[in-house]
Amino acid sequence: MNRNLALEFVRVTEMAAIASARLMGRGDEKAADLAAVDAMRSMLDSIDFDGTVVIGEGERDEAPMLYIGEKVGTQKGPPLDIALDPLEGTTICAQGRPNAISVIAVAEKGHLLNAPDTYMEKIAVGPTCKGAIDIRHSSMENLKRISDIKKKRIQDCTAVVLDRPRHKELIEELRSIGCRIYLIGDGDVSAAIATCSSDSGIDVLFGTGGAPEGVIAAAALRCIGGDFQGILRFRNEEETRRAKAMGITDKDKIWGIEELASGNVVFAATGVTDGSFLPGVQFKSWGAKTSSIVMRSESGTIRHIQAKHHFDTKPRY
Ligand code: FBP
Repeated sequence: MNRNLALEFVRVTEMAAIASARLMGRGDEKAADLAAVDAMRSMLDSIDFDGTVVIGEGERDEAPMLYIGEKVGTQKGPPLDIALDPLEGTTICAQGRPNAISVIAVAEKGHLLNAPDTYMEKIAVGPTCKGAIDIRHSSMENLKRISDIKKKRIQDCTAVVLDRPRHKELIEELRSIGCRIYLIGDGDVSAAIATCSSDSGIDVLFGTGGAPEGVIAAAALRCIGGDFQGILRFRNEEETRRAKAMGITDKDKIWGIEELASGNVVFAATGVTDGSFLPGVQFKSWGAKTSSIVMRSESGTIRHIQAKHHFDTKPRY
């Protein structure tokens, strides 16, 4: 994949972030999501590549744009698969809370899992603990390994978990072990990425969230050198049927990071609302400031990009 394409994809998340950030705190999730989708869709079509959405806004019958299977780009460049979430943390943005981001992951054709829109049980850690985790084992066992490698007490390790009733047992177990717990309302992609930053204070992500977000997080962690495992958790017969139609028959399969996102992967994200991962969009008299990250698994390069967008010279915005 041409490395310059990575910068093109940052433009895509920047525009989606600006469009949705305008609607921060308005309480209208649909409008914020639609603004992000619309902006992302039109920016993607300005890039010379033959893109196919494999993780998107849903199935063709339920999403008007950026649905699974939709072709994007000018169709003139290399064939690439895309996993995207124009607004990861729709509720966060609508409520004006921290950590909403716009994300995209791109890989060569066939290198991103075509994951159905269901749940995924996940475990994620940063580079120092790569190879040490096993989702089949208890959180106690995984924490023991993490604490050994990081040379700190389990009680000083921090696990990030989505605050959901389905995690009642997991949270009780973590409390009984005595590790620190950071509960988040939404946004487990940036939470998974936080395990890779020594400044975040987060050591591990446990719990069940969206399967599409799992593939996107795995792509990000491939670029940073972290580790990720997931097991699809179907909520009903319809989800099982859709997964089968996508070729996924083993419902208990443990998906390793390389099976979720393999080969050369590019990951780009832009902050929508302020967060520990990325600052959010700031609007100025002349335009907007954005903060983004773009990473490539091939080189391991991680770029932080701050951009000033002058609306006078970008009439579309
Ligand atoms: P959206 O951006 O689609 O709203 O997803 C936010 C999110 O919190 C994800 O980060 C997470 O994987 C998923 O929702 C969890 O799903 P649920 O809210 O159903 O528990």
